[in-house]
Formats: sequence, structure tokens, C-alpha cells
Amino acid sequence: MSLSPVRGAIVTGASSGIGRAVALDLAQAGWRVGLVGRDAGRLAQVAAACGNGAQIAALDMRDTAAFGDFVAGFGAVDLYVSNHGILDGRREGEAVETGAVAAEVLAINLTASIAALHVVLAGMRSRGAGQIMLVSSLAGLSPLADAPAYSASKAGLVMYGLSLREALRGTGVGVSVCCPGYVATAMGGEHLGHRPHEITAQDAARRIVKGALANKRLFGFPAPLWPEALFSLLVPEGVLRWFNAKLRFTVQKR
Ligand SMILES: NC(=O)c1ccc[n+]([C@@H]2O[C@H](COP(=O)([O-])OP(=O)(O)OC[C@H]3O[C@@H](n4cnc5c(N)ncnc54)[C@H](OP(=O)(O)O)[C@@H]3O)[C@@H](O)[C@H]2O)c1
Repeated sequence: MSLSPVRGAIVTGASSGIGRAVALDLAQAGWRVGLVGRDAGRLAQVAAACGNGAQIAALDMRDTAAFGDFVAGFGAVDLYVSNHGILDGRREGEAVETGAVAAEVLAINLTASIAALHVVLAGMRSRGAGQIMLVSSLAGLSPLADAPAYSASKAGLVMYGLSLREALRGTGVGVSVCCPGYVATAMGGEHLGHRPHEITAQDAARRIVKGALANKRLFGFPAPLWPEALFSLLVPEGVLRWFNAKLRFTVQKR
């Protein structure tokens, strides 16, 4: 896929962090962007910075009908970046996250993401063209004892994305999955623990856009953590526990 001023991209979770940086990158490259998030004020600021007729939709991604209305009014979506998400898990003083926390994380990060993806996919399939980028996490490959539902939601995105990519082979619609490591964003501020090799949202966004435009299948960063995450299901449990001991954390919501 080449960069062209007439191309349209929708980015979810665009009011903050990685999604904001992805939207700005695309807008600077001439894309017309649709920005989705919950905070209308922050979305408006990002839209103003993007220019190029950027459109905003302040909605909860669990409201698939509202998302569908926005997509219908946006026009052709050449690139869809499914990036919205929340981090939640074990709070200070708890041994394990609650069931309520787990349910909310799965509903937003996984169930809503898959439902929304199908809204965009319908148009891409009818045009026989488009690229979907699912923003997962290294936590989708390496189990997080402190945030099991977050890990599960991100693992779900990895497997859904890779399965869908194969199912869509030859249709003109590509699917990519990206697994970032620690990124300095508002979400990063809710993670109380060691964050080795943390990178900026701008750095993460550059890699995500590049990977999407290259129709990469599955990739992650930064370099030192990506292979460790990939092999985490293969190493003996004791080795993984030793490695993860310095990465234990609690979550403090804003
Ligand atoms: N930061 C990291 O270390 C890290 C590492 C690996 C993967 N990731 C993933 O990268 C993605 C972006 O995270 P970030 O670090 O940029 O976090 P962030 O700054 O907290 O941004 C999260 C974005 O998701 C949106 N969002 C959350 N729940 C939503 C909902 N129910 N409906 C609509 N929008 C919703 C937020 O919108 P509002 O603020 O407007 O509500 C915000 O725009 C997430 O999927 C995250 O899991 C992050």
C-alpha cells in the first residue's frame, strides 16, 4: 500500500498515547483520518493537530452501533488501526484481579475490538482492498500474573488477527498484528512496576504504521523483549517465573 493523500484511515484510541501518535503520523503523510475515543475534548485537540479534514467520534467502543454509524459516514477505510484498550489488573494489596475487572478488560480490549473490526471489514471486502492493524501487546504472548485478563485479551487479538489474515488471503484485505512492549503513555502511568526498555508513543507509532503499510503478519518491539515474549510459552515455568519476578506490578487507575 502506498501513501496517497486520498487514502482514509480510522484509528481507535486516538485521543491519547499511541493512537494519537499514529493519527498524527498518518495525517502528516497526507491521510484523511477518523479518530475514535471516549474523550471528546482530547479528540478535538488531536483532530486540530491532524488537519486534513480529520473527523472525530466520541464513543465507547463497546457501542458497536455507534461505531458503525461513524464508519458509514466516513467513507472508504483503507487502513483501520484497532488500538483502543485499557490496562487493569491486580490493585495494591490484592493477590489477583477481581472478576469484574477481568470482565471489563475483556469486553473493551477483545470483544469490542472484534465486533468493531467486522464493521470495517464489510466495506473493505466489498471493495476488495484494505489493511487492518490490531494493536496487541507483548503481554499477549507472555502471561502476566498481575493482569491475567489483559494478557488474555491481547492473546485473543493475536490469534484472531492471525486467523483472520489467513482466512482473508487473496481477497485484497490484509491483517497485521503488532505487540508493543512498554510505551510511555497515560496507560503506562497506571502500571506501577519496572518498565524496561520503555519507548515513546511516537516511536511505537512509527513502527506500527510502517508494519501496517508493509502488511507485516506479526511483529513486536523493542528488540530485547520481543524474542523473550515469543519464547515464553516454551521455556520451563521456573525459568519464566525467575525472569518475570522483576516485572511484577500493580495497577493504579487514574
Ligand atoms: N503503553 C504501553 O506500555 C502499551 C504496551 C503494549 C500495548 N499497549 C496497547 O496500546 C494501545 C494504546 O495504549 P496507550 O498506551 O496509548 O494507552 P492510552 O494513552 O491510555 O490510550 C488508550 C486509548 O484507548 C481509548 N479507549 C480506552 N477504552 C475505550 C473504550 N471503551 N472506548 C473507546 N476508546 C477507548 C482511550 O480513549 P479515552 O482516553 O478517550 O477514553 C485512549 O484513546 C492499547 O491497546 C494498549 O493495550 C500499550
